[in-house]
Amino acid sequence: MVKTKEEIEKIRVACRICKLILIELGKILKEGITTYDIEMQAEKLFKEHKVAPAFKDYRGYPFMLCVSVNEEVVHGLPSKEKVLKEGDIVSIDIGAIYEGYYSDCADTFPIGKISVEHKKMIDVARESFNRCLSLVVPGKRTGDIGSVIEAFVKQNKFSVVKDFTGHGIGKELHEYPDVPNFGKHGTGALLKENMIIAIEPMITEHSASVRILDNGWTVITNDGGFSAHYENCVLIKEGGPEILTKN
Ligand code: MF3
Ligand code: CO
Repeated sequence: MVKTKEEIEKIRVACRICKLILIELGKILKEGITTYDIEMQAEKLFKEHKVAPAFKDYRGYPFMLCVSVNEEVVHGLPSKEKVLKEGDIVSIDIGAIYEGYYSDCADTFPIGKISVEHKKMIDVARESFNRCLSLVVPGKRTGDIGSVIEAFVKQNKFSVVKDFTGHGIGKELHEYPDVPNFGKHGTGALLKENMIIAIEPMITEHSASVRILDNGWTVITNDGGFSAHYENCVLIKEGGPEILTKN
């Protein structure tokens, strides 16, 4: 779980390209396109940047991207039938492999004008990530991260999804440790210098109760409330964390 200099360098490249593609995909989003159009654009960008998609065929996952719209929390399947409309919020989750090393990041984008409440939820997901960063240092624990994320989300009257967590990342997409978006200070896995973790708050506007659709993948809220997702890979260093999925 602690990475060598050489490994960090490769993961850094994977992460930089992954975020670059995510930003490019964010730019094509507009009313009238389908979530499958986003998948097609991603295919082109993966080729252009000479990285492999990390999710395709991972445990049988059938696409390169997860595109989760509105009440879909994570693992939304790109679809030619799913046409984006004004007021939607779209989370794109993407992973890239460079020379055998993984990266993973996600963000939630508005389609046209969205409600004030949904805009705030997207901001709170991002800000909950920013707020935990001071605790992403050697000697702290995953529970310290989760505790800060959970408290900030609750303070803002949103809910944290507890059924899925962040994770270590490296030669595999999901490595030790799990990084929950909830918890207690001083508990959980110990953070060490040169570990790399994906921190990914998934939050909902009402209840955090979720279920999986019959397609076996897509996670949706039970009450139909909308959900936002934000994810970055972070390198743990003495002097403070380095966000790797950054451009
Ligand atoms: N960011 C997601 C995760 O960490 C991506 C996995 S999607 C999958 O779980 F399809 F590949 F499973
Ligand atoms: Co992830």
